[in-house]
Parts: sequence; structure tokens; C-alpha cells
Amino acid sequence: MRIDKLLAHYGYGSRKDVKTLLKQKNVTVNGERIKTSKFHINPDVDIVEVNGDVIQYKEFIYYVLHKPSGYISATVDDREQTVIDLLPMRAQQIYEPFPVGRLDKDTEGLLLITNDGKLAHALTSPRREVPKTYYAHIDGRVSESDVKAFHDGVTLDDGYKTKTADLVILKSGTISEIELTITEGKFHQVKRMFEAVDKKVIYLKRIQMGEISLDDALPLGAIRELTEKELNYCEQMVGEQEA
Ligand code: URA
Repeated sequence: MRIDKLLAHYGYGSRKDVKTLLKQKNVTVNGERIKTSKFHINPDVDIVEVNGDVIQYKEFIYYVLHKPSGYISATVDDREQTVIDLLPMRAQQIYEPFPVGRLDKDTEGLLLITNDGKLAHALTSPRREVPKTYYAHIDGRVSESDVKAFHDGVTLDDGYKTKTADLVILKSGTISEIELTITEGKFHQVKRMFEAVDKKVIYLKRIQMGEISLDDALPLGAIRELTEKELNYCEQMVGEQEA
């Protein structure tokens, strides 16, 4: 990769700005001062520094966001705050990240944020049936008949019959607590599934997507990078998608 491309990608301005930077500032590759913008580097091995700051090049970013209520799953919006607003400004500007799939404005929990379009496609493609687990509070007494109905598939308000889903009752009462795992992602799916059995979701939080979990230590509104294990899972998903 040309050094001007790397520096431009890293936020040092346009290629023209980078040319000036190379002339004026101390840009080094493996300790040697470089002045020409055509200089080629290998981002995997060469150490590039601008005035002593090491530039760590990476093409893609992968974050788990603990989405709070009140943010929409979009990249920009004129009126609403978006989940991307919760990322550091530098990451927003350099990497142009976007959310993988959607959570409703009032839903909390796990949202993967990346700029890797192939991964987003692999995780959201209906044919991959990636399991997503939600924790919810339900207005109404959730019973074994709901477990069976969700297992067999319920008919949503638009006539669509849902695929088999795994409903676990954590607490049954006037307000029930449940976990529900679904392998599809229709619009407002969890809320509409409960409406199909005459109940209402009053709190919804996604806790798992594929092999990526929301850990309790991550505060609401905070982000963390994916672990090595989670990155391997993502790589495998993309590989299988392309095969
Ligand atoms: N199902 C819903 O109803 N809402 C969400 O945000 C996610 C799944």
C-alpha cells in the first residue's frame, strides 16, 4: 500500500494534504524518514510513525455496543440520535461504521458495529439463520402454551408464520420474564410474536447474536472490541458465506 493512502485513510487529510505532511513533518517507516508519497509499505509489518506517533493501520473495526434505549439503528439522522453517535468521533470519521441489523429505538442490548460489509451480510442473511437471543419483560402470564406456540410458529399480523423459536420462561407472573431465541429478523419480530399470543413486550434487550454475547460488565452505552474468539467466529461466517 502507498504511504499516502494509508495516512489519508488514517485521517491525515486528502492525498494532497498528505503530500504536504510528508514534506513538513517527520514521517518515518521502520525509523527511516520518508518524503515521497509514492513510497510503498506493508501495513502488516512496517511501523509507520508521524512525529513519533505510531500509526496502527487496520481496514476494519468490530465493536459490540451495549445499546441504550433512545438511539436509532442508523448511521445518520436529522432528528434522532443514532447508535453511531456513541462511538469515538475518530472511529466514526475514519472507518465509517454501521450497525449490523437493527434494534428498535426502545430496545437495549447487543448491537454489532463494524465497517465490514461482508460480515454484516453473513450475519444478517436470512439463509444463515443466525440465532439471536432476547431477554424480555412481558405484560401477562407467559405459559407453557406460549412455549409450544413459539416452537410451532405463530402467525404475525401480516400473515407471516414464524420459524420455530425457543422460549424459556424465567419467571411467570402478571409481569413475566423470558428469554427468546429466534433465527430470523422480521420487523419488530419479538414484539409481534408476543402480540400474536395476546401479550405485550414492555422491556426488550438482546443478549446474544450467533457466538457473540453481551457481557454484564459492559455498561449501557459503552463499546468493547470483539475478542479473538469472536473474531474467529466472524471470519468463519464470512468464509462460509463466500464458499
Ligand atoms: N424484535 C423486536 O420486536 N424489536 C427489536 O428491537 C428486536 C427484535
